Amino acid sequence: MSHHLKDFNNKLVLVTGAGSGIGRATALKFADLGAKLVICDRHLAALEETAQLLIQKDNYPVLEIADVSDWQAMQWLADRVHAQHGVLDVLVNNAGVASSGDFLSTPIEDWRWLLDINVMGVVHGCKAFGAKMAERKSGHIVNLASMAGYYAAPEMAAYSASKHAVMGLSESLRIEFAEYNIGVSAICPGVINTNIVNVMRAHGAAEQAQAKIADIYRKRNYGPELVAEAIVGAIIHNRAVVPVSPEAWAMYAGKRFTPSLIDVVQRSKPFRKLKDYAQKH
Ligand SMILES: NC(=O)c1ccc[n+]([C@@H]2O[C@H](COP(=O)([O-])OP(=O)(O)OC[C@H]3O[C@@H](n4cnc5c(N)ncnc54)[C@H](O)[C@@H]3O)[C@@H](O)[C@H]2O)c1
Repeated sequence: MSHHLKDFNNKLVLVTGAGSGIGRATALKFADLGAKLVICDRHLAALEETAQLLIQKDNYPVLEIADVSDWQAMQWLADRVHAQHGVLDVLVNNAGVASSGDFLSTPIEDWRWLLDINVMGVVHGCKAFGAKMAERKSGHIVNLASMAGYYAAPEMAAYSASKHAVMGLSESLRIEFAEYNIGVSAICPGVINTNIVNVMRAHGAAEQAQAKIADIYRKRNYGPELVAEAIVGAIIHNRAVVPVSPEAWAMYAGKRFTPSLIDVVQRSKPFRKLKDYAQKH
């Protein structure tokens, strides 16, 4: 059976975390392609802002408030969507949060909070919507992993663990779901200018550096629209893993072909000094 989704006109697309950043840009991109959108977030005000932008494009989305980490809420969401709008053509599991800080300073509650959203949120989305797609034998699931899904930076153990989990989940599901003609893609952006670092939980030295990190993201100024484009390309070509941004590609190649070199560089004194310098200035 071949994968077939190439035209998004009138297709039903649900994006989680659509109130900001990559989720919002993805909703706008699908609106340009004529899709029917269900936009979901846990924050109503943010969702309404996205809705306004969509309406300016003559696209009238369905707004759904749901916390992806809440399995019951996700089941209710799926029941409503299936009853009122039908089976999804595209599910974008985008909602996610970040944390930063050395392992010893990071409280266990932060691990649970982050894993519940970044990992279980994706599991909930796939499980709540996957069965109907499988029954119909078509659809595509896009999971937002990250460059941190294959490269685990220091002081980002929880975030990296969560995104490595999304990679594993996506790879496994891709093989299982191929049988139902459902594509599964993992998207791996690098440093993208969104709100994520402003709302991340930071501990230890990372807490002091948070404003600085936010500044680096702003100055880097790599827009979420480019991730949205990569998402559409991933569906059309049914790609398994899609790094987005030069740093994400560089690290993807580095980890594949010269993993020990990356390890040596990361642990070297000059590299650590450079990192400290970057955080302080
Ligand atoms: N910005 C980056 O540099 C970057 C890089 C790689 C991967 N990502 C991933 O992309 C995804 C989107 O991130 P972003 O940068 O657009 O962040 P963002 O903070 O700008 O937007 C995330 C949105 O998700 C929503 N959200 C958070 N938790 C939720 C929950 N439990 N239920 C429902 N909605 C929830 C937020 O309200 C927000 O509107 C995340 O999975 C993130 O890990 C981001």
